[in-house]
Amino acid sequence: MKILVTGGAGYIGSIATEQLLAAGGSVVVFDSLFQGHRAAVHPDAVFVKGDLADRAAIDAVLREHKPDAVMHFASRTLVGESMQHPFRYLGENVTTAANLLQSVAEHGVKRFILSSTANLFDKPERMPIDESEHIVPGSPYGESKYIIERMLHWMDRIYGVRFACLRYFNAAGATAERGEDHDPELHLIPLVLKVALGQREKISIFGDDYPTRDGTCVRDYIHIVDLAQAHILALRALDGGSRFYNLGNGEGYTVREVIETARAITGHAIPADTVPRRAGDPAVLVAGSGKIREELGWKPRFPQIRDIIESAWKWHQANPDGYAD
Ligand SMILES: NC(=O)c1ccc[n+]([C@@H]2O[C@H](COP(=O)([O-])OP(=O)(O)OC[C@H]3O[C@@H](n4cnc5c(N)ncnc54)[C@H](O)[C@@H]3O)[C@@H](O)[C@H]2O)c1
Repeated sequence: MKILVTGGAGYIGSIATEQLLAAGGSVVVFDSLFQGHRAAVHPDAVFVKGDLADRAAIDAVLREHKPDAVMHFASRTLVGESMQHPFRYLGENVTTAANLLQSVAEHGVKRFILSSTANLFDKPERMPIDESEHIVPGSPYGESKYIIERMLHWMDRIYGVRFACLRYFNAAGATAERGEDHDPELHLIPLVLKVALGQREKISIFGDDYPTRDGTCVRDYIHIVDLAQAHILALRALDGGSRFYNLGNGEGYTVREVIETARAITGHAIPADTVPRRAGDPAVLVAGSGKIREELGWKPRFPQIRDIIESAWKWHQANPDGYAD
């Protein structure tokens, strides 16, 4: 299959590209490089620099490459930013997806995978969070993903496009060649590792009085390779119908457990300071991934936090300045 990967220069898209190529697919990456890195794009993928705000550019890439499927990773991704600048999300994220979907409909592409998010579930009634949970987006970022999920519903009904919405919890870890290099970096594991690299003085723990085993928040970290494999399985299953999956380990780790594990792996003391809670941070967020396990046989190969952090540490040690572009 030929797959168009939007956002394929970013963290998750670049590693999905690597895994798709390893599985025998061919990949065209479409990315504006607004974030992400040209050097993250696998040399065997075709790279097209373009912005999803530009419909003519999307049409051109679909006309020239005629992909069998689209994986849509390109997005603004920051929950906090979306609370300050909601229309970068309710506007930009939504219109760029609408542009892409209109072109997908016109060019007759019938398979589509969306990077959706755990931020759809701001008021979960049960933990772990499975697909039966009420959708209550926690921010304009989450709302923008929900709007795109709804657009996909109509793409299926009107144009027969089969889609999968994969609602990831926290993607983490690296492969030998590719890792996490965001600017700004707001994710816990790379921030902790930057302390170990001597690039930051300490790590802040936002609140240690939550009702969890050590008082710090519990989050679900999914290894980036396991996440990429879920995309491949979902893509293969699409002819059987559109679907939604919550995607995480099902295993939560506290902030302190992540820091302790990173200390053991790096041998660095990693000083940590406890500061007040952040508004809106739930105590526990863990995915119920039973549905994708049962329906597609997905099983994480790297469910242990130790393996996840170790892979990230290897990449950060080899690339202390990230992609250096
Ligand atoms: N990182 C996580 O833990 C996580 C969790 C849940 C969902 N997601 C979703 O996964 C996807 C990928 O996340 P990531 O961490 O790899 O982000 P990233 O910022 O590393 O990658 C996004 C890529 O999209 C590109 N892009 C953005 N807007 C574009 C546009 N208008 N036109 C063309 N390219 C554009 C950027 O240049 C970047 O390379 C996003 O949709 C994000 O919302 C990520």
